[in-house]
Amino acid sequence: MAERRKILVTSALPYANGPIHFGHIVGGYLPADIFVRFHRLKGSDVVYICGTDEHGVAITIAARKAGVLPQVLVDKYHRIIKDTFDRMQIRFDNFSRTSRPLNHELSQQFFLNLLKAGHISLKTERQLYDPVERMFLADRYVLGTCPRCGHGEARGDECPKCGAWLDALELVHPRSAVSGAAPEVRESRNWYLKLQDFQPRLEAWIRGKTGWKANVLRFVEAMFQTGLRERCITRDLDWGVQVPLPDAAGKVLYVWFDAPIGYISSTIEWARARGQPDAWQDYWQNPDCRLVHFLGKDNIPFHCVVFPAMLMGQPDPYILPDNVPANEFYNLQGDKFNTSRGWYIDFEDFLAKYPVDALRYALAASAPETRDTEFTWQDFQKRVNGELADTFGNLAMRTLKFIASQLDGRVPAPGPFDEADRALLERARGMTTTVGELYDTYRVRQAMETIMGLAHAANRYLSEKRPWATRKDDPLRCATAIFVCTEVLRTLALLFHPVMPGTTERLWSMLGMARPLAQQRWDTFADRPLAPGHAIGEPEGLFLKIDDETIAAEVTALGARAAGGDRRTTVEPTGVEPLRDNVGFEDFQKLDIRIGRVRAAEEMPKTKKLMRFVVDLGVETREIVAGIKGHYDPAALVGRRVVVLANLAPRQMMGVESRGMILAAETADGVPLLLHPDGEPLPGTPVH
Ligand code: 2FM
Ligand code: ZN
Repeated sequence: MAERRKILVTSALPYANGPIHFGHIVGGYLPADIFVRFHRLKGSDVVYICGTDEHGVAITIAARKAGVLPQVLVDKYHRIIKDTFDRMQIRFDNFSRTSRPLNHELSQQFFLNLLKAGHISLKTERQLYDPVERMFLADRYVLGTCPRCGHGEARGDECPKCGAWLDALELVHPRSAVSGAAPEVRESRNWYLKLQDFQPRLEAWIRGKTGWKANVLRFVEAMFQTGLRERCITRDLDWGVQVPLPDAAGKVLYVWFDAPIGYISSTIEWARARGQPDAWQDYWQNPDCRLVHFLGKDNIPFHCVVFPAMLMGQPDPYILPDNVPANEFYNLQGDKFNTSRGWYIDFEDFLAKYPVDALRYALAASAPETRDTEFTWQDFQKRVNGELADTFGNLAMRTLKFIASQLDGRVPAPGPFDEADRALLERARGMTTTVGELYDTYRVRQAMETIMGLAHAANRYLSEKRPWATRKDDPLRCATAIFVCTEVLRTLALLFHPVMPGTTERLWSMLGMARPLAQQRWDTFADRPLAPGHAIGEPEGLFLKIDDETIAAEVTALGARAAGGDRRTTVEPTGVEPLRDNVGFEDFQKLDIRIGRVRAAEEMPKTKKLMRFVVDLGVETREIVAGIKGHYDPAALVGRRVVVLANLAPRQMMGVESRGMILAAETADGVPLLLHPDGEPLPGTPVH
């Protein structure tokens, strides 16, 4: 048997400097996860790699703002980001961190190899320097106007609008992002990667590619036209991978040098974890392996030019990407996602109310593959109600309930096929080829339209065939129609599986299948129709519809949050009370402060401020009354961790004995903000 095709898939390593949003998911993660799940069904040997990008100025600036050390910040966001991927059912084979020693070592090795091969030069050049903060201003520490597109918020290394890879000295009207001061130009000694050494090879490689997106090719061609030149790959920072040379104290590698190497170190980690430490080479150093980098368009130059050049300059024979299907940008309800302005949707909150597969489908169906697109609540409602519930779900229910109630729960033997029967069956059977081609060539949107088109056609067919009417007079026609629809359903389960894994597995077991859908084979699927007499499982609804009021409330809530700023990050203490007198440590020790977990929460009627909580404290569960009514939605608090002063003497409050106090910060305008522990400590964990 021929060896299974090896495929190595990567998703851009997100910066561990803040939470990710829908735009990230739809740009570089969901499409990759769909591609990987599809290829698993195809039987390919696929490895899916990711991790967090933990160096560079994106991190140090965020840490400075938060008043914590970079390590603390990246530890926190590594966990949060990983949790979001888990919730979204994005399943990596390995999720690493660029700050791990393995990545440091490998990056240093890459640097030394390039240096030895003569592709790195050492130069003293002009750099921007902040005279107020007394530091060199690398990358995001400088803001200014993009010399390419005129965008006013370009950063020292990239323009977030046009994606240009910039040099800080090129910025028009530069200003320091730290102090706001106009930077001075000073000299600094740094190492430069001679990209021009690789231009002929890069051009030959990319120009030989077929099936690349036009936006990606255009971008890279423009870089070639301008001519590649040497770029500074070290920085004056104390956070990052040390430059591995004796005279390089205080110098680290530029984040875009060590980040893509993170793909390789993450793959090595994966190989080691499965007890085959060299297995990573079967992918990275195997010319038959297909490497695909999924990302958003702002990452194009690094994946199509810089990283390939770094790989070409290694003594070992690394493969280059087979494709880099970069997506355009994704907005929210007419504006850019912006976490600090409150213009985002919280994953935890969203997924507590709506099923993950509905979100995966809605994102896939509106993915910014060829142009910028957006998420709107109205579109989400339309997709859930009109497409998932009324089209896909409806076909499943009409067919399976009919079998359960009218046909003894068994798939009927069909009679002779007429033209309509045959047309629909053939359409369904041909779909593994057409949709397979779409998935394989990164056209998920079109795949969604095509699959939903089949569900639509099957509904129409069912309405025309009216099996409920022919059941008595023409049972064979009735049986044929139901058989055909069951075949379509079976096919829909497979086709939709990469996008909606959980829902389609549910449908699969409703179809009475024993082995999981994920273990089916895409290529032979169409040749194995259901056998007449096959017993189906218990039918139950696949999707719930969302009503207009709910959607209107979501839109209002989004607007309200943006108007109030993001409370979780931007509430400023104004008019702060003076500090009180010191207390001894023994006094502090008398307080028993614990982590609690909210079991239930409700607003107390006839009170203005009070909410009643049932809080799990590990050793016991108790009632506590807190004055936060009107500021929090009680339902959204259930499951949340809070900080509780557990040994406050009980108090009667509006007929409830409140035992303890839930701690909150109170802003100058009286808004209570509940405290929330970092991570997920067990209820009862003491707080010191
Ligand atoms: O743009 C970003 O979010 C980067 N952290 C992506 C890095 S991709 C890879 F090369 F690591
Ligand atoms: Zn620009």
